[in-house]
Amino acid sequence: MSQPASFRSTWTNRWAFILVTIGSAVGLGNIWKFPYMAGSQGGSAFVLVYLVCVLLIGLPLLMAEIMIGRRGRGNPVSAMLNVAGETRSSSWWGLVGWVGVVGALLILSFYSVVAGWILDYLFKALTGFRVETAAAAGASFKALLGNPGQMMVWHSLFMILTVGVVARGVIAGIEKANRVMMPALFLILVLLTLWGGVAGDMPAAWHFMFEFKPADLTPGVVLAAVGHAFFSLSLGMGAIMAYGSYLDQDSSIGATSLWVALAGTLVGLLAGLAIFSLTFAQGLEPASGPGLILQTLPLAFSSMPGGQIFAVFFFILILFAAWTSAISLVEPFVAWLTECLGIRRGPAAWGTGLAVWFLGLGVCLSFNNWSAYTLFGLNLFEFLDFLTSRIMMPLSGLAIALFVGWAMGRDPVRDEMRLPDGAFSAWYRVLRYLAPLGILLVFLHVLGGIS
Ligand code: PHE
Repeated sequence: MSQPASFRSTWTNRWAFILVTIGSAVGLGNIWKFPYMAGSQGGSAFVLVYLVCVLLIGLPLLMAEIMIGRRGRGNPVSAMLNVAGETRSSSWWGLVGWVGVVGALLILSFYSVVAGWILDYLFKALTGFRVETAAAAGASFKALLGNPGQMMVWHSLFMILTVGVVARGVIAGIEKANRVMMPALFLILVLLTLWGGVAGDMPAAWHFMFEFKPADLTPGVVLAAVGHAFFSLSLGMGAIMAYGSYLDQDSSIGATSLWVALAGTLVGLLAGLAIFSLTFAQGLEPASGPGLILQTLPLAFSSMPGGQIFAVFFFILILFAAWTSAISLVEPFVAWLTECLGIRRGPAAWGTGLAVWFLGLGVCLSFNNWSAYTLFGLNLFEFLDFLTSRIMMPLSGLAIALFVGWAMGRDPVRDEMRLPDGAFSAWYRVLRYLAPLGILLVFLHVLGGIS
């Protein structure tokens, strides 16, 4: 698809934008990471703080990112530079765009490997895989981690699926893929939650997630929840900014963001309820870490009537969620290549994919042959996760809050947001004070300052 650099697509309508942005937000973060984080971080305490963070920091930043994207009408780097230029702020702000664009590609390099695990388990489910004991479930997951070749095949397939969509363009590729996958995802999720209610232990799941126990509320839990609010709303990585740049002028940023945050959170909570219902019904431990869904769910499925169908649907659901998020991780850099270097979208997308794929090969090896090679005591997978989620995301979120709250000046922000007065003042104040402070706390924690 060749497009002149000056041409910019816009989503078909506001709902299309809401759909693709939910597609970006809802991903492995909600379905793979959220349950194991909640499971190991005190359950309801984590869930409660996460919800408060989504509302108080996540939602305002989501609005800020969409606003910059739309005002700057360009890929994250150009958008930051354009808005900085318009408001006579320093061109150093362009760096924020770069942190996002590069961070997104780094995330994708391991995200794709984890999505590859999901493909592997989907394949297993299709071929009637069963495990009878927790030990067997653990052993099969370990076997996958010990087999770099197998991981590389699935990682390669997932990268081809992702890049294939981005290469087709914003409307014909990204919007169209989301239009098919997101409604399917919602439908499967509702069915699975209902099934979780029938076959699982829903009251125990509800109790675990929502019955608040103040004693579990430690600083560590609070900070983990802030970080997760960032990851699960795709903040600070240019994805939302890139999508926002294709938003038409008539759509309300406030209402649109509210939809995205609500739907994204709801999906996470429903997935959590479904997963914990099954986990508890099997008498399994919710605090078992990153392997949670890949170890407990196959076990739960194996002992359940109709479990194979359940498993197939569940892994398709996670695959769709991961796919639509991965697409949004590629788009920012591809948009930069097409707009700033004039490269055609097809070659830009495949070239980007190739580079990320290559780094992903290292990630596959970091679980086995290369596990001894570490940086600050972290293998490549852990290092990339740490660098992006704990350093680049909060840094870029902080910079965005400061840019909108302090550098841009009130008038252009107000002009672009078109919010009612009271809502605008509240939002603006959050960006000026609360969000930077909250993010700084996470950051200090990471650097070992507190907790
Ligand atoms: N929000 C996605 C998830 O929950 C991950 C993501 C992060 C996507 C940053 C884009 C940008 O899985």
